[in-house]
Amino acid sequence: MPTDLADRVVVLTGATSGIGRLAAVALAERGATVAAVGRDRGRGESLVAETADAAGTVRFHRADLATTAAVRDLAARLLEAYDRIDVLAHNAGLSTRSRTETADGVELTLAVNHLAPYLLTHELYDRLAASAPARVVVTASDIHRRAAFDFDDLQFAADYDALDAYARSKLATVAFTLELAARIPDDDAITANCVHPGFVPSTNLFRDASLPTRVMVRAAGLVPGVGTSADEAAARVVRLIADDTFAERTGAYVGDGDLTPSTAASDPAARERLWEASAELVGVDADWP
Ligand SMILES: NC(=O)c1ccc[n+]([C@@H]2O[C@H](COP(=O)([O-])OP(=O)(O)OC[C@H]3O[C@@H](n4cnc5c(N)ncnc54)[C@H](OP(=O)(O)O)[C@@H]3O)[C@@H](O)[C@H]2O)c1
Repeated sequence: MPTDLADRVVVLTGATSGIGRLAAVALAERGATVAAVGRDRGRGESLVAETADAAGTVRFHRADLATTAAVRDLAARLLEAYDRIDVLAHNAGLSTRSRTETADGVELTLAVNHLAPYLLTHELYDRLAASAPARVVVTASDIHRRAAFDFDDLQFAADYDALDAYARSKLATVAFTLELAARIPDDDAITANCVHPGFVPSTNLFRDASLPTRVMVRAAGLVPGVGTSADEAAARVVRLIADDTFAERTGAYVGDGDLTPSTAASDPAARERLWEASAELVGVDADWP
């Protein structure tokens, strides 16, 4: 394995399972220092053990990204632990079966899949800028195409559907990435790009989904030619983190090649409105970076 990522510090959320776990191993094998974030200490420690002989290093940082307090606490620990952060990769994600609110009173899917990346980027932005050239990488999904924004009911207080909530959270991740890329001043030398990893039935993403969704995912995974392997999905994420192209390129949405984001994700007015709504929900000034 080439050790081309030696001396690079990569913060990777959702590193304890599925796509993120395979990405963490690949990055460590290439020499990176990986700050691996996940909820489960056992899974985190087994990842550290699995990568003990790799060229790079994996350190586990436990955090449940559902609340702003937890995201801020994680950011403080990362700033304490790492003098530089070269890549901030938001890969953690979940899907639910019923409407759940976090301790902040926010719909859980939106909180973890979108608001946590928004706030963590805000909290770590200065360290990224000080480490530049740097990158923000977001694991999105092409399922965002089935979603629309409803700014009067962003959190599905009325008429909740779990798959719609998941799709809208992923629409938010794409719109956030595009808006972040547009806002970052050129002089800061930070790129922001997002990736569709494919439909990957073999991960744990749908473990908390409804029975029909789990059956559908399991069945789809058995059909030859349907779905993407977790290895291929991880390679797509690692590409945005590691390939030289994405040191310069910003505001891209890619899968196994370039993809065009949905009209809803690209709409500048919607992106701006999401940015402001997100800032209000997490309690920061929307005028950043
Ligand atoms: N699988 C697919 O078909 C597919 C398709 C498109 C996009 N994606 C996206 O790919 C990313 C990775 O998903 P995956 O398929 O690899 O699923 P996965 O195996 O369930 O992995 C999800 C990761 O996110 C972490 N996570 C979930 N909720 C969290 C929370 N509240 N706080 C902190 N960490 C949390 C999990 O940590 P724990 O180990 O602690 O639970 C785990 O490491 C997600 O963003 C997902 O939306 C997946």
